[in-house]
Formats: sequence, structure tokens, C-alpha cells
Amino acid sequence: MRPERTAEVERLRRLFRFFGTTQGAGRSPVYETLSEGVAGDESLLALLLETPEDQRRPSLLFAAVNLLLASRRDSELAAYYAIHGGRRAVDDQLVPTFAAFCGRHRDELARLLSQRSTQTNEIRRCVALRLGVDHVHRHWPGPVALVEVGASAGLNLLFDHYDYRLDGGTSSAVGGSSVVVSCEVRGSSGTGVRRTMPGITRRLGIDQHPIDPDDPDARAWLEAFIWPEQTGELATLRGAIALAAGASGVRVAAGDATTDTARILGELPGREPVVVFTASLLSYLTAPARTAFVAQLDEAARRRPVAWVFAEAPGLLATTALDIAALHGPLARRNSLYLVGAGLRGDGHRHDQLLGLADPYLRWISLARGPADDFQWVPAD
Ligand SMILES: C[S@@+](CC[C@H](N)C(=O)[O-])C[C@H]1O[C@@H](n2cnc3c(N)ncnc32)[C@H](O)[C@@H]1O
Repeated sequence: MRPERTAEVERLRRLFRFFGTTQGAGRSPVYETLSEGVAGDESLLALLLETPEDQRRPSLLFAAVNLLLASRRDSELAAYYAIHGGRRAVDDQLVPTFAAFCGRHRDELARLLSQRSTQTNEIRRCVALRLGVDHVHRHWPGPVALVEVGASAGLNLLFDHYDYRLDGGTSSAVGGSSVVVSCEVRGSSGTGVRRTMPGITRRLGIDQHPIDPDDPDARAWLEAFIWPEQTGELATLRGAIALAAGASGVRVAAGDATTDTARILGELPGREPVVVFTASLLSYLTAPARTAFVAQLDEAARRRPVAWVFAEAPGLLATTALDIAALHGPLARRNSLYLVGAGLRGDGHRHDQLLGLADPYLRWISLARGPADDFQWVPAD
């Protein structure tokens, strides 16, 4: 084997093991087991080597398989996926069954892996948006426009149409919504989030590959990112898609975060502040692209106030010149978690603040105990 190929195979093994231990463990016995299985399977690693380098992601491989399973619910592998009606517990046949399935559908998988991109729409991340909007509202009372960059299908843009169950209690956004977002609040009681929210004057998404929730194929791809055991998440996603179908005034424009954000923000009518939300966007951008994205926000903030509300890996945020002291310390190495915060820019002022440290899917959040919190009190998950 050529040295570059050997190095790439080793990188992929580490990547899958990292995914299995940091994301699968304790949450998805199927993906935890399969991550280790892929790391040890030469033929599955060879399949990944045939795809473009930036497409060699555990989430993408698992989603591609999941998509094929959705129309093959009677297959042996689907028996391990509760979302496809399966009831079989993880056992020593899971990895061979997965490998055999991938072998049978190798061409279809190779095509999906090279053509599709990671397109989750994780509704729970609305918890971060809700916290961020609440923070912005305390500083800038009054209505705001909402733009999500990396919006996928734009379902987070309807965050104020959902109800929230935070820490078991209900902190309702609308009351009686068909979509209820649950998140455990760790290390404190309640969130301090007020029930009142600002009026949202417009809702716009920007995405490299916008997903049309009315398109059945696009919907199926979004659903493919739901993990095998997550029957509740699947119901929430379907509920949000149904809600979006009946909503007006929500649009996701095609655009690149690094080159189009300032222009698109500049085209928004009105002078009210714009809340720009990103969740799990920065990991798709190279270091220069992250700098370019932040420069786009700075440029837009020269025309009207812009608040960047984020739920992103701390190490990536540390490269974006946010004025958050804790990002210069060990917090920047906790990349299996997401930092939730807000950076307000307007009238020549800048105010960056961290709000919480959370599981990347916002299953739980620990709220900041002060502006200088470095979250060392939050144990590794
Ligand atoms: C992991 S998904 C997150 C979607 C959504 N924010 C959520 O939290 O569910 C990342 C999204 O970012 C988009 N994306 C990646 N790079 C981008 C770029 N340079 N410009 C705009 N969108 C991008 C992808 O197409 C994808 O929809």
C-alpha cells in the first residue's frame, strides 16, 4: 500500500473510533458498534477511499446506509434500526450484517457518498437559538430579522413555533405546538429564558445546498441522518417538516457562507438587528473560510446591528477572533461538545458572550455560570 493511502486509512480508523466514542457511546449502541466495526474493516475503508476526501465522514456513510434501509425495511440490517421498526439488540452479527449490506449496495453507496452532503436539521439546536435570541433581546429590545447560515431545510427558522421542555419543566414558546423540543439542563435549575420573545420580522436561510422540505427525496435524505434508536427525533423532525409546509415567509437561499453572507444580509429590507444563527457550520469550513465568514459578519454589521448566535465546536470558535477569554484556555480543546454563545456587533460596539456548553445535538446543556466561565466544572460526557 502506498504511504499516503496507509496514512489515510489510519486517519479514517481514528475518525470512526472518535465518532464512536464521542458521539455514539451512551447514545447509539448501533453506531457505537458500527464505528468500531468500520474502523476494523478494510473493505469498508476502501469504499470510503473511493469518495472525495471531504466526504469521508462517519455521519455521511451511516446516513447513506440509512437511506437505503428506509426502502428495505425487511432487510436483516433494518432489524437493528428501531426507526425502521426493528427490535433486535446489538449483537456480534451487527457488524458482519452491515458489511454485507454495504457490499451488496456498494455502487449505490459510492454514488451517494460522492454526490450527497451532510444535511442534518437537528431541531434540538433551536434550544441554542432560543437562548441566543433571548440574550440578544435583553441587549437590543425590539423585533429582529433571523438568518440561519448553513440552514439545511430551514426548520430552525421556525424556532418560536415550537414548544420547549427544558429540564423536564416546560418553557413554552407558543403552547400547544405539535413540535416539542426537549433538552436536559445540567448543573443548574431552569434556563432563565423568558417566555417573551422578540417579533421575528423575516426568516431566511442560506445554504450551499438548500433542502426543499416539500421534496420527498430531500425529506428522505434529512431523515437518513436520524440515528437508528431515535424514534422520538424522527417524530420531531417529521412534525417540524409538516409545520414548515404550512408556514409562509420562510425561505432558504442558495449561497456560500464565506462569500454571500454580507450581500444577502445587505439585501434584507429594514433596519432592525439581524440575528445570524449557525449550528454545526464551522466544521464544514476550512480555517481561511472561517475567517472569511466572520469577515462577512463584520461587513454586514457596518450597515445594521448583527448578532451571531452560535452552537459550534469551541476549538473552531477559538479561531474566529471572538472576544471570549475562556477560548484561550482548555475550553478550546473540548471539541466533542458545542459552545453556545452570542456575539453582538453594532454601532462600533462589540459584545461577545458565552451562554452554555452543550452536547452537539443539544440533548443537554450546561449554562454558563458567568461571563468568564471556562466550563471546567462540566464533566466529560
Ligand atoms: C450539519 S448541517 C447543520 C444544519 C443545521 N444548521 C442544523 O443544525 O441542523 C451543515 C449545513 O451547512 C451547510 N454548509 C456547509 N458548508 C457551507 C457553506 N460554505 N456555505 C453555506 N452552507 C454550508 C451544509 O449544506 C449543511 O446544510
